Amino acid sequence: MPCEHHIHPSILSADFSQLASELNAISTADAAHIDVMDNHFVPNLTWGLPVVKRLREVSPVPFDVHLMIEDADRWAPQYAEAGCESVTFHAEAAIAPIKLARTLRESGTKAGMALRPATAVEPYLDMLSELDMLLIMTVEPGFGGQKFLEVTLPKIRRAAQAISGSELSLRLQVDGGITEQTILAAAEAGADTFVAGSSVYGADDIEAAIAGLRGAAEKGSAAHR
Ligand code: DX5
Ligand code: ZN
Repeated sequence: MPCEHHIHPSILSADFSQLASELNAISTADAAHIDVMDNHFVPNLTWGLPVVKRLREVSPVPFDVHLMIEDADRWAPQYAEAGCESVTFHAEAAIAPIKLARTLRESGTKAGMALRPATAVEPYLDMLSELDMLLIMTVEPGFGGQKFLEVTLPKIRRAAQAISGSELSLRLQVDGGITEQTILAAAEAGADTFVAGSSVYGADDIEAAIAGLRGAAEKGSAAHR
């Protein structure tokens, strides 16, 4: 199956005083990854709906919103209505994930579901048809700049097998600790969509960093096939 690699820089590592220009700096990326944290689901706090709404209006790239919040059933649809192209809620934070994914899709948004590193994928395999993206966290959610957890690789592999052995076309995203080195292993395991915060915004040349990640992902997934 052809696999186009998508690179989603996370603005969690951007300069918060310059978010509009930081979004312009990643115009060669496939989407901007927007981490919403509520200081309950994760021990950190970022921005909420009004800020995300306004940033969407000035962004040259689509928004991939990652909700690290409790009460996802209540809040996620509002990000869809705000024009975010893709909205990902955590399986651990949704009371009715199938209903929520359907609500997101009905409003024309891609529905994503995320799993913490220690959450198994198997209980969710039967609902993959309800999703446009499955996000496997490769660090504990909450902070940028953490080390990639290799212990998640077998789960990425099992999820990729479940997807490729079906008629489904959902994307398999990884988030956390993605660098030009770790992206090789993630792509080799079958991921096709890569979130990268510190390795993009911490680079001297942001466009070169995005291109470097793309190239490495290509190499990694050639080994997967
Ligand atoms: C962490 C966030 C990530 C974060 C990744 O909870 O979900 O999106 O920005 O940052 P890096 O790429 O630096 O690990
Ligand atoms: Zn994220």
